[in-house]
Amino acid sequence: MDPDTMTDPADISKHLLAATEAAASLDALEVVRVEALGKQGRVTQLLKTLGGMSPEERLANGPAIHALREAVTAAIAARKAHLEQVALDAQLASEALDMTLPVDAVAPGTIHPVSQVMDEMAEIFADLGFAVATGPEIEDDWHNFSALNIPETHPARAMQDTFYLEPKAKAAGDGQGPSSDGGGFAADADRAKPEPPMVLRTHTSPVQIRTMLAQKPPIRIIAPGRVYRSDWDATHTPMFHQIEGLVIDKGITLGHLKWTLETFLKAFFERDDIVLRLRPSYFPFTEPSAEVDVGWTMVDGRKRLGGSEGWMELLGSGMVHPRVIAACGLDPAEWQGFAFGVGVDRLAMLKYGMDDLRPFFEADVRWLKHHGFSALDVPTLSGGVGASA
Ligand code: PHE
Repeated sequence: MDPDTMTDPADISKHLLAATEAAASLDALEVVRVEALGKQGRVTQLLKTLGGMSPEERLANGPAIHALREAVTAAIAARKAHLEQVALDAQLASEALDMTLPVDAVAPGTIHPVSQVMDEMAEIFADLGFAVATGPEIEDDWHNFSALNIPETHPARAMQDTFYLEPKAKAAGDGQGPSSDGGGFAADADRAKPEPPMVLRTHTSPVQIRTMLAQKPPIRIIAPGRVYRSDWDATHTPMFHQIEGLVIDKGITLGHLKWTLETFLKAFFERDDIVLRLRPSYFPFTEPSAEVDVGWTMVDGRKRLGGSEGWMELLGSGMVHPRVIAACGLDPAEWQGFAFGVGVDRLAMLKYGMDDLRPFFEADVRWLKHHGFSALDVPTLSGGVGASA
């Protein structure tokens, strides 16, 4: 029978369902859908005939026509879902990634030396029983200075060229009297408590404070992260990286500090002949304080770490000041500890032989390709190229 002359819903249904099943693509199915359900479609036309029927005719023919519409609609939807699935399967099959390919062939990015050194340090200190702690880069004045025994008037605040943040804009209605802001207890309380001055942290030492406030001793943590000072030349950038170390326990001495740093530096620089020299120094948050120098030896006209022909300054350290311990709610008669802070970028320069800090943060792909590390490398204690300065 010529489909164009069909009028019986059963015939139309058979024809449309067969056409639906036969549609081999989403485009072909769309043609069937328009033929059936479009404005001029067969089913649509049949539905329109209902309007011209008498109530009895409608009662007799209506159910079949509505059933036809439902059956065809459902068949087209099912066929559409099937064809989409087939298309997706084909796409997945053709776009599949070979997970056994070496990663360099797929993603030629490299690990930044700073990330590499942080991973190496975390690895070494994990072996020594240190956990990793973190703190915010936007820090309040109390954590960055006051709790570390650096009072407001202390010249040490000028030692570090601090970036201060603009004070937060006052809440709307402040200073306009109780009637304009609705008054009330909360608004008055807000006014009474001024926002603390905020800074970009100048060192990772505030993480000492946050850790001592948050957990009970014994404490053994390192805290890697970004720090900020207003400074810019070949060896200073306004943002750089430090790792803080903190141990709080009973009976901790300078000897523990020296052993820990020596063990760390020998592992980090992959040399057994690393020699440390502790030089008396001053930090408000440690007492006594020591600047730690590492010895070098001249080899072929270059300074190489190890031995003790000469010394280079490496990091700041000391025994945690009793006032800092007390500021964190601990009894300094019971708990002692040591802390140190070391520049990660500086360690990277020493270990991997770079002499300018600025390219670290210029995102020059050529520099990253040259100095970066393969993403497949495990943080390594044996990938060093030998230290030089
Ligand atoms: N926070 C000091 C600095 O940035 C380093 C330091 C940390 C010194 C811990 C002693 C103890 O210069």
